[in-house]
Amino acid sequence: MCGIFGYANYGLCSDTHKVLDILVNGLRRLEYRGYDSAGLAINGTSPADVVIVKAVGSVDNLESSVNKLQQTRFEQPVQLPYHVGVAHTRWATHGAPSVFNSHPHTSDSSGQFVVVHNGIITNFKPIKEMLTSKHFEFDSDTDTEVIAKLLKYLYDTVRENGEKLTFPRLVMHLVHAIDGAYALLIRSTVYPNELVACKVGSPLVLGLKPAEREHISVIRSSARDSHLGKKTPARIPSAEELSIDGFDGVEYFLSSDASALIEHTDKVVYFEDDDLVHIRSDGHLRMYNTGDSETTRGIASNRTIATLDMELEQIMKGSYPHFMLKEIYEQPESLLQTMRGRVLINSQSENKTNALQIKSDVHLGGISQRLSDFKRSSRIIFVACGTSFHSCIAARQVMEELTELPVTIELASDFIDRRTPLFRSDVCVFVSQSGETADTLEALRYAKKCQALTVGVVNVVGSSIARITDCGVHLNAGAEIGVASTKAYTSQIITIVIFALQLSLDSRSKQVRRKEIHDALLALPALVKKTLTDLDEHMKAIAQRLRDNTSILLFGRGYQYATCLEGALKIKELSYIHTEGIHAGELKHGPLALIDENMPVILFASQDACANKVQNALHQLMARGGISNMIIIGTEGDSNLEAFRDKAQLVLVPQTVDCLQCVLSIIPMQLLSYHLTVARGLNVDQPRSLAKSVTVE
Ligand code: F6R
Repeated sequence: MCGIFGYANYGLCSDTHKVLDILVNGLRRLEYRGYDSAGLAINGTSPADVVIVKAVGSVDNLESSVNKLQQTRFEQPVQLPYHVGVAHTRWATHGAPSVFNSHPHTSDSSGQFVVVHNGIITNFKPIKEMLTSKHFEFDSDTDTEVIAKLLKYLYDTVRENGEKLTFPRLVMHLVHAIDGAYALLIRSTVYPNELVACKVGSPLVLGLKPAEREHISVIRSSARDSHLGKKTPARIPSAEELSIDGFDGVEYFLSSDASALIEHTDKVVYFEDDDLVHIRSDGHLRMYNTGDSETTRGIASNRTIATLDMELEQIMKGSYPHFMLKEIYEQPESLLQTMRGRVLINSQSENKTNALQIKSDVHLGGISQRLSDFKRSSRIIFVACGTSFHSCIAARQVMEELTELPVTIELASDFIDRRTPLFRSDVCVFVSQSGETADTLEALRYAKKCQALTVGVVNVVGSSIARITDCGVHLNAGAEIGVASTKAYTSQIITIVIFALQLSLDSRSKQVRRKEIHDALLALPALVKKTLTDLDEHMKAIAQRLRDNTSILLFGRGYQYATCLEGALKIKELSYIHTEGIHAGELKHGPLALIDENMPVILFASQDACANKVQNALHQLMARGGISNMIIIGTEGDSNLEAFRDKAQLVLVPQTVDCLQCVLSIIPMQLLSYHLTVARGLNVDQPRSLAKSVTVE
């Protein structure tokens, strides 16, 4: 949902071509966040001269424009001792995809202030009206353009009074005037070679790379910014200086996502809300926290430089044609990573301190300190969106069974709309691949206000949800780049299952069931691998058959209800075929009217407690002619399905314990949606109108 990337170097004497390459490449890594248009701004022949390039569509289009620039204006690359560049890839919220609406946005034709923005400025209309009354003219329909123009207005107004603000102070005035969510990168010809970055609500991470020495430290000087002088308003806080030891030149990177930094540096600082970073023209950097809320005040003095634990290969396609296929095939490994150190082999795990001598067969370090709080809780509420929501549905039953607590599942948006009553005794679990989904984050903030215990189940380390929750578990599934979530989904399911095992560790009556699930978890990666090998070609052939359909219905119940919802989401979001996942128990209550011999139906039939009921649904569908176009996703060795081998398409996955069967039965759906999309000639990794990280409500 828009990606921003900034690059500034000092003392390195590099040329414009290098800077353009770094910016374009940074946008490529962020393209999954939006691909409606892209743009960038860099220094021209001098810092007082800015060059802006924009293109509608993908980063490829921007690159073509940049190449033209390199053959014309920058045929001789400009060698400068410092460079400041900002770049943006857009997922349109305000204003259709067009060059005018593309970022960077500027204050005026000379580009005095240049802004890239991820988020939404909710009060942009009154600001725009005010600026229009002051004779500002707008070129775009975006909310972002008001930021650039407001900066100019504030700057000029102060100048007219004979004052000049420092760049960070000017931006502090700006952020006090705007509402909403934003991560902003701002450069200016009146503050040459400086860069200001700040954020509220949208993610932003800073990467640091000293030229020669590997030494970076946080100086806890908390010195007041001398530029701010005596007139500094009380609320403008102390600055934190991130000092580069023995300054030999430095490169700074700013990005919506840490994965875009990994090829440059592994030293990062995650921004908290209200953080503002000022990179000065001498290359030194200061970090402020401008917030006045209790949760943010003073946090800037606690910033640490984190080391990214990520390999470049994780964010490359390798030999796969698409990220989605790579991520589908990574699942045996991603599931292993999710379980590593958490699902223990029994012999290693005797808990000597436990009087009952119950074996600790699981260990979730991220929640182990809060187990007593969990035990005191009266209900567990899962909150998520999209695929993450489906993973909660998939794992709810086993959570209820093992904890014997009421478990409810909430769509984050609906949860916020209803302001669901919450109590201190509630545990709220926020499940999110990106850890940045705006609705889920908003729900989390609400839960914190209500003083519920908040738990994150998040893939992206350092993301907002991971940082704001009281405790949590990382999925460790590795970077997921394809817009359609695949490996995060299966890792989410097993993480919640492990969570349920952890919470029921002491329950004597559950030990047999727990062991069955525990052993099945350990066997799961190999079964996923087998499913992928056995079914890829089969699903490709089915995709060829289904490719020209306009509608597909998926039915399932029990543990497979989530599979039909998630399978339908995968197919519709990628292939644009209308697809619905329907609870098989609801068949007679309306959906049966849609069934005839032409309607393609996918039915999930597992050998579990719902098997007989699913057989009933199968017969009802058959009676309406649904069998001729039916695909049954069943389990190997299910003799009940043999009778349908000649009538329907049977797709069989290995059998596992009931609560993990959904991890195997989603695999053919992931493959089907992938092959359908390829067969229809569509863009697998970048479906229309979608973005990976939905950072606006
Ligand atoms: C669908 C998909 C989305 C996300 C949803 C929540 O394939 O990926 O439905 O699951 O936008 O995103 P996260 O998990 O990042 O909170």
